[in-house]
Amino acid sequence: MPALTAKAPAKLILLGEHAVVYGYPALAVPVASRWLRATMQARIKPANSGLTVSAPQLDIECPFEALPELHPIKAAVIVTLRHLGIQRLPSANLNIQANFPFSSGLGSSASLAVAVIRVFSAFLGHSITNPELNTLAYQVETSAHGTPSGVDNSVVSYNQPIWFIKGAQPTPLQPGADFHFLIADSGIKKSTAASVGELARRHDEDSTFIDECFKKIAGLTRLGRQAFQSGEIQRFGELMNENQEQLAKLGLSCPELDRLNAAALKSGALGAKLTGGGLGGFMVALSPTAETVPFKKALIEAGAQQVIDVPVLTNPEGDSHE
Ligand code: PMV
Repeated sequence: MPALTAKAPAKLILLGEHAVVYGYPALAVPVASRWLRATMQARIKPANSGLTVSAPQLDIECPFEALPELHPIKAAVIVTLRHLGIQRLPSANLNIQANFPFSSGLGSSASLAVAVIRVFSAFLGHSITNPELNTLAYQVETSAHGTPSGVDNSVVSYNQPIWFIKGAQPTPLQPGADFHFLIADSGIKKSTAASVGELARRHDEDSTFIDECFKKIAGLTRLGRQAFQSGEIQRFGELMNENQEQLAKLGLSCPELDRLNAAALKSGALGAKLTGGGLGGFMVALSPTAETVPFKKALIEAGAQQVIDVPVLTNPEGDSHE
């Protein structure tokens, strides 16, 4: 039997992270050039030898049963089997490869969940719809993050720009112009569960200040949706900057991210902000044109480990996935 493969993109939150956990909106896009690939290869001999998992970037090479209980790969396989009403694990190898780093604000756990659920259900002979995929991936995200908003699994499952509010179906968005984003890795690994948890603890202690910031973020995210759909690039950049100000007030930025944001703006970016959980990971900048080389140079000089182009185009046909 030939191997089966499923790919899931990385994701980029443009506006609204963290506030989205509390029911406010967020705007997110897939990152077509960065993906995670899950491959299932049947093993005929020895018979009933069970499922083995290899994920070199995660230092995983083991039988399925040896994965830690809350591991997203394990959770993704279990929710898929339960969904399909199948009890026995197939005799196969599940291999995971990604061309972007884990734990850096690009939604690796959602990509992992989506790719594994897709390939596993296909391997077992079942096609799965996007809403089903999204629901199952959210269950996996819940075991990995604790209280995820669901924005990551939604943008990765639907693989298109979305407007997202927790608990509602995501709304696909069409950009009104070509947007040329760049994302730069601060090199600092961070845990989203930790930054979300810390904010929740502070919110429990005193919600006034945090709610005020979230309301401001929600307002500018709504304006951002209009600017995105009507193609007002400059306005969108301004809103990114305002979002960054609020995120910094919430204590979610760090000197390394601040340095990258400043370098991008100094070299002419229209907007720059952290993306995802914050306190490290990636930042995102908006270039006024498709010519992004000067920004890349400035970001690398300011300490970025890598810089990736994320074009969000009115006609994404020519946009490569590989
Ligand atoms: O850091 P990431 O890629 O896992 O993004 C998290 C986004 C948050 O809004 C901080 C959390 C969430 O569940 O939406």
